[in-house]
Amino acid sequence: MNMKEGFLFGGALAANQCEGGYNLDGKGLSIADVVRGSQQGIPRQVDEKIHEGVYYPSHEAIDFYHRYKEDIALFAQMGFKCLRMSISWARIFPNGDDEIPNECGLQFYDKVFDELLKYNIQPIVTLSHFETPLHLVEAYGSWRNPKLIDFYVKYANVVFKRYKDKVIYWMTFNEINETMNKKDPFLQAGLKFKEDENDKKVKVIASHNMFIASAKVVDLGHRINPNFKIGCMIQYTPAYTKTCHPNDALAKRFYNIQNYYYTDVMVKGEYTSLCYSQLKRLGVDLTISKEEQEILKKGKVDYIAFSYYFTYVVSYDENQFVIDKKNKYLQTGQWNRTIDPIGLRVALNELYDRYQVPLFIVENGIPLDDKIDGNNEIIDEERIAFFRNHIMQIKKAIHEDFVNVIGYTTWGPIDIVSVSTGEMNKRYGFIYVDKDNSGKGTLQRFKKKSFSWYKKVIESNGECL
Ligand code: BG6
Repeated sequence: MNMKEGFLFGGALAANQCEGGYNLDGKGLSIADVVRGSQQGIPRQVDEKIHEGVYYPSHEAIDFYHRYKEDIALFAQMGFKCLRMSISWARIFPNGDDEIPNECGLQFYDKVFDELLKYNIQPIVTLSHFETPLHLVEAYGSWRNPKLIDFYVKYANVVFKRYKDKVIYWMTFNEINETMNKKDPFLQAGLKFKEDENDKKVKVIASHNMFIASAKVVDLGHRINPNFKIGCMIQYTPAYTKTCHPNDALAKRFYNIQNYYYTDVMVKGEYTSLCYSQLKRLGVDLTISKEEQEILKKGKVDYIAFSYYFTYVVSYDENQFVIDKKNKYLQTGQWNRTIDPIGLRVALNELYDRYQVPLFIVENGIPLDDKIDGNNEIIDEERIAFFRNHIMQIKKAIHEDFVNVIGYTTWGPIDIVSVSTGEMNKRYGFIYVDKDNSGKGTLQRFKKKSFSWYKKVIESNGECL
């Protein structure tokens, strides 16, 4: 039992977590560039500006900016059919509101795409993966301001036209639902709240502006190249009810609607009854003009891309849901995450039942603090077992549940900077990068044991696990 012909096996990266070169060749600052990693017990922190002598993980990252050829050659050795990556918006429009794009930035992605295509690796591109230009945050208040819609559309127009013969699959915003779910959605949407501000309202408005931006871009992209496939991208963490008490079933619904709020608008092209019930729960009124309704209708996405890492348990408390990260039936791995392959089958079924559009698993993986042993090897059996079990469940979803899954890109096929903590030691890769949490190391690349395992998986199109 393997995947169908054309299944997109590969890996997934984000510009700010791998490229480095944060100020090279005309690139402006993006929101990721002012985020310090957590260091020796001090949590991750967002700075107003860059401070001398402080370590910012995105500034060098793993230097993919200079080493992309070497890294892509390694992906090609594993037989990747595709590489999910993002374009750094601030490399193309350094301030976000510039008149003309930065040609050097455009040339960089020309070179990366050409290198990938040389090996028949299809680039799959996220337009914004936590990479809003910082100037748009400072001068306009980020996505709470509808002016960002035009800046984003202008950026998309430039890259769609430039790369229309090199890229087919696009995604508009990475994990757009994190705008609502995160207490502090700075990385997702560049939002900082003032003391007297109703943060729920700001999140609803920012999300609305992103919906309009996404829909406009989907419509535009289809006009530029009718073959484009443009998807939305959410973080999907299924939740199980803690007990069979009906209130826990309600809790699960309250939990789910915060995610479906996003997919409903982007896939169905309208604010559905579920969306209105979410707005009511948040106590926020949103007026949607006739013109905006039309835009949403015209800009329905072609597929749903999602990240899947673990599952939650939810229970009810005073008309709210409460999340429990532990599940007594599941093992908990490093970084306190449950390991739940069946949860991926659940996720695929939940999304497909509701939307009936192609699904693309664009992130999945296990962070391990891998170490090089005395023989210069990295034996990451735990990672191999993790992927084996997850791919088995994808196959069940495809062959037994008839879910339309178009591809699977593992998160961080090469070790990169962690988004939530800025650590380097939170490693996901098949390829080890010699760099530590404080930024020290040679940046040399080493293949882990999982490297040759994943190569066999791709070679056999998922048959050989
Ligand atoms: C997803 C993000 O939420 O999870 C990635 O899209 C991120 O950018 C990934 O890196 C893993 O999270 P972390 O915090 O371990 O890097």
